[in-house]
Amino acid sequence: MKKKDTVTLIDNSTGKELELPILRPTEGIATIDVRALYRELGYFTYDPGFLSTASCRSAITYLDGANGILRYRGYPIEQLAEQSTFLEVCYLLYYGDLPDSKQLTTFKNDICHHTMLHEALKQFFIGFRRDAHPMGIMVGVVGALSSFFHDHEDVYDPKQRQKAAHRLIAKMPTIAAWSYRYAHGLPFMYPRNDLDYAGNFLHMMFALPTEEYTPPPLFVKALDLIMILHADHEQNASTSTVRLTGSSEANPFAAVSAGIASLWGPAHGGANEAVITMLLDIVNSDNDVQYYIDRAKDKNDRFRLMGFGHRIYKSYDPRAIIIRKTCHDILEQLEPGNRYQELFDTAMEIETIALQDDYFKSRNLYPNVDYYSGIILLAMGIPLNMFTVIFALSRTIGWISHWNEMMQDPESRIGRPRQLYSGEKPRNYVKLDSR
Ligand code: CMC
Repeated sequence: MKKKDTVTLIDNSTGKELELPILRPTEGIATIDVRALYRELGYFTYDPGFLSTASCRSAITYLDGANGILRYRGYPIEQLAEQSTFLEVCYLLYYGDLPDSKQLTTFKNDICHHTMLHEALKQFFIGFRRDAHPMGIMVGVVGALSSFFHDHEDVYDPKQRQKAAHRLIAKMPTIAAWSYRYAHGLPFMYPRNDLDYAGNFLHMMFALPTEEYTPPPLFVKALDLIMILHADHEQNASTSTVRLTGSSEANPFAAVSAGIASLWGPAHGGANEAVITMLLDIVNSDNDVQYYIDRAKDKNDRFRLMGFGHRIYKSYDPRAIIIRKTCHDILEQLEPGNRYQELFDTAMEIETIALQDDYFKSRNLYPNVDYYSGIILLAMGIPLNMFTVIFALSRTIGWISHWNEMMQDPESRIGRPRQLYSGEKPRNYVKLDSR
């Protein structure tokens, strides 16, 4: 007899049974479709942090945490990192396939022609305090973009969605670089369409109107790689935030702004900044590395090894392997004895000790994407508080691709989780003078 592709749930308190379909993915973990549960048995499911919950179907990114596998649209991250460019990956993520050379040229042209910001947007930067965190500026300015483009408010029109996506990909580097320029009292540099995506960003970050500037090819390549590795990571906190925000039919600029806010936290994209702060603390302290490892293991101490651990990866994060090698290669090409080498050596020492330690081994805690990326960014001259901004500009394509996918999904509905109420039972209002 052919086995049924279902699971049966038995409610022992009532004796009722419910057969729930198993949904089979093209790859990975099968999913139980619990949509009938509330209707048939009157229960919700309880899953804080979504440890066992698939919130949607998605064909964009495949992630196998047990085996350290990451693929965009089926292509292994290692191949994309080695052979493609960030804009090619953007095309792949949004449209589903690698572009041919004509498609890529058209796409690049489209992106190039949307890199400028409306002049009035400059006033937004100037309204922030000079010491504002650039992520705070990003949240505000990207959200404000929605008030500039009223020609694509129909989120169900694919052409309008595409225009919004192109605008976001194109303008994000300009917004990111200008948030840095403003904090440093430097003039805003306009984008240059003759440069590629990473080179143009470095130009807007570091060029001066008084001098010629050529983005160093070594850094352009490294930044392009970092952006590829951060471009998407399926339903992480910020992507889920973008989806949830967009599920109410909010405009994409507002949804991406919400994603940036979510990314900011140190448990998510803020970790790359936190890693460098931690490494600097360690190299400047009299304590050895073991002291910090012991602190990370101590349950009474809130200190964690930043850049270690991941909700999904229970083996080495494949992105961290690529970034560690790039970091090594870049440092080799810088002047001997450069100060980043000390950070890299310390990071390697921590990794070696941690990976032999039972605490980290038993919990499958390995370096993640953020562990080595900050050292490369620092070596490029990018200040610490811009690290998460670079993550945000790289992840924009992931966010907008997921939003676009959601808007086409016939099963998608406004996101509205339920709760397990744990508050007071009904009680009567007590007048103020009787309390
Ligand atoms: N240092 C020390 N202990 C850790 C660490 C760490 N970095 N990460 C997890 N643990 C311990 C944790 O205390 C827990 O121990 P126990 O089982 O005894 O209670 C166990 O490992 C499982 O951790 P968890 O917090 O339940 O795992 P999670 O899936 O909820 O959290 C995480 C994942 C990434 C938030 C967490 O590992 C962490 O805080 N890491 C440091 C921050 C970081 O590097 N974040 C970047 C993530 S990758 C990029 C991105 O997503 O943006």
